[in-house]
Amino acid sequence: MSRETAFYLDSQTPRIISQCEAMREWVQSAQRAGKKIGLVPTMGALHEGHLSLVRAAREECDACVVTIFVNPTQFGPAEDFEKYPRDLQSDLDLLAPYGVEAIFAPSPPEMYPPGFSTYVEVEEISLQWEGASRPTHFRGVATVVLKLFQVAPANVAYFGQKDYQQTLVIRRMVKDLHVPVQIRVCPIVREADGLAMSSRNAYLSHDERQAALQLSRCLKKGEELVGQGIRSSAEVLTHMEQTLIASPLVQVDYVVIADPETLQPVEQIDTRVIALVAARVGKTRLIDNAFLEMPESLPS
Ligand code: PAJ
Repeated sequence: MSRETAFYLDSQTPRIISQCEAMREWVQSAQRAGKKIGLVPTMGALHEGHLSLVRAAREECDACVVTIFVNPTQFGPAEDFEKYPRDLQSDLDLLAPYGVEAIFAPSPPEMYPPGFSTYVEVEEISLQWEGASRPTHFRGVATVVLKLFQVAPANVAYFGQKDYQQTLVIRRMVKDLHVPVQIRVCPIVREADGLAMSSRNAYLSHDERQAALQLSRCLKKGEELVGQGIRSSAEVLTHMEQTLIASPLVQVDYVVIADPETLQPVEQIDTRVIALVAARVGKTRLIDNAFLEMPESLPS
């Protein structure tokens, strides 16, 4: 048995790694042993949405690395970096049944040592919607995700459709910078009543939790109207907005019907479009999205 194979097989499950160098060695030695590695980047406070990515990685790859790192560079100065939920032990407990091979949980200085000064800017697709509301957000996301791809050079990386614009930013970066990783995007996991799962849902009071349902209801409304054959985005959006503001606790940031590749607004819904919504419920900012599909049976 080669030293690399032994290194891979000897690892306790899961191996918790906090150093970049050790993480890279682990991934590379597993790959030399012929393993296909799946990577699931997260900021912790894990829920079923994250776990669905872990399940996909376990199914499609030979070994899975979950990263847990609350990335400071993707939070704006007035945002919730300090209060973002952090509970490594509870995350490890949630991951325990999945037999994840490695967990990468670095400290902020391990990822951003003193003197750090290189950032990744993905232009165009980063500018609108989330990028307009959170101007430095995608620069922080692209930077940390590229760093994670360098530190844990996996074969496949798993992301959720929940952060739809983020998936486009990452796909663009991977293409533009020739990063040798395959990107997989998994469906949004929702609570039984429709609320998209999010670590930030923990901030919601009882009344806000009820009000937060307007986001998924507004997307359902869009699906329903487009399903009936309404092609005018303006008409669909009017009804979606009305649904969203039906609760006084909801403050709309944006609702848009857009091209799924460019995120440019579309006026006429012909085939498949994406509806994106962002709103503040109390102090908590939530996002959600859904594809809206024109039924094939309706002539254009
Ligand atoms: P985080 O918000 O922890 O999400 C980690 C991954 O889980 C993302 O790909 C996100 O889209 C996915 N996810 C979150 N909620 C989901 C849901 N309800 N259904 C399906 N997938 C869901 O996104 C980030 O962290 C960070 O920006 C990160 C990519 C880790 C970079 O720091």
